[in-house]
Amino acid sequence: MSKCVLITGATSGFGLAAAEKFAQEGWSIIITGRREERLKQLAQTLSSMTSVHYYALDVRNKEAIDTMIEGLPESFKNINVLINNAGLALGRSSALESDLADWQTMIDTNITGLTNMTHALLPTLTQQKSTTVINLASVAAHYPYPGSHVYGASKAFVAQFSKSLRCDLSKHGVRVTSLEPGLAESEFSLVRFKGDQSTADTIYEDTTPLQPKDLADIMYWIATQPAHININSIEVMPLVQTWNPLHIEKH
Ligand SMILES: NC(=O)c1ccc[n+]([C@@H]2O[C@H](COP(=O)([O-])OP(=O)(O)OC[C@H]3O[C@@H](n4cnc5c(N)ncnc54)[C@H](OP(=O)(O)O)[C@@H]3O)[C@@H](O)[C@H]2O)c1
Repeated sequence: MSKCVLITGATSGFGLAAAEKFAQEGWSIIITGRREERLKQLAQTLSSMTSVHYYALDVRNKEAIDTMIEGLPESFKNINVLINNAGLALGRSSALESDLADWQTMIDTNITGLTNMTHALLPTLTQQKSTTVINLASVAAHYPYPGSHVYGASKAFVAQFSKSLRCDLSKHGVRVTSLEPGLAESEFSLVRFKGDQSTADTIYEDTTPLQPKDLADIMYWIATQPAHININSIEVMPLVQTWNPLHIEKH
């Protein structure tokens, strides 16, 4: 029987590329996200390669997650890998100018959504041998930058939660990885700048960011390590990205 991966946020970017990668490798895939039409189209495309189940849901909605899991067709019930990829940044302005509703949405999606999905799948993941959780954190978890405030803090939660989970799950054969990318080209910036395509484009202009496929290949590598190996975390940046000197305010 083929192995099964559940991917959140598979309607674009890393999640979509991961769905393509695992499908090409013959895994059964469960794809989720809010935009049902995109899921449907992706399922149609990938079903020539493998078995695909799609379910439109918002990770903030715990009941929707439970309903999805209860309704999984028999052949998709034994999930081997969970990729907690759904997430977003909203706004890039200073904390002083930012919108509290945006902060709440980032907390609800990146923290509550990720923990909703993880908690709901723990019984499934612990029932089987050698399963894996891959959580999408970010370099922003470790390196603050102006305007990263709640986004960076939410990803710091993801990175630390991943390590804490390891302590409880290793005896059950569940591996946990915090994947921490830097600049990567996807719809991430379009979402962050609320549909402002030209501002989003400036982020990737004149540079060579990571591509979703790069992250998908890394996710697949993590998931296919021998059972006795746990990749605790991977921090990955494009070559062109490094660190700023520490900022000193002059007044
Ligand atoms: N791109 C980067 O530079 C970068 C760097 C570091 C980390 N990351 C992280 O990597 C992950 C993937 O980002 P990406 O770059 O691939 O961005 P993306 O292209 O915008 O994809 C984000 C995905 O998350 C889904 N999503 C957002 N809110 C959701 C919700 N409430 N419920 C369910 N799904 C939701 C979106 O689907 P729907 O809108 O259809 O729901 C979409 O499929 C995110 O966690 C992001 O924070 C990105």
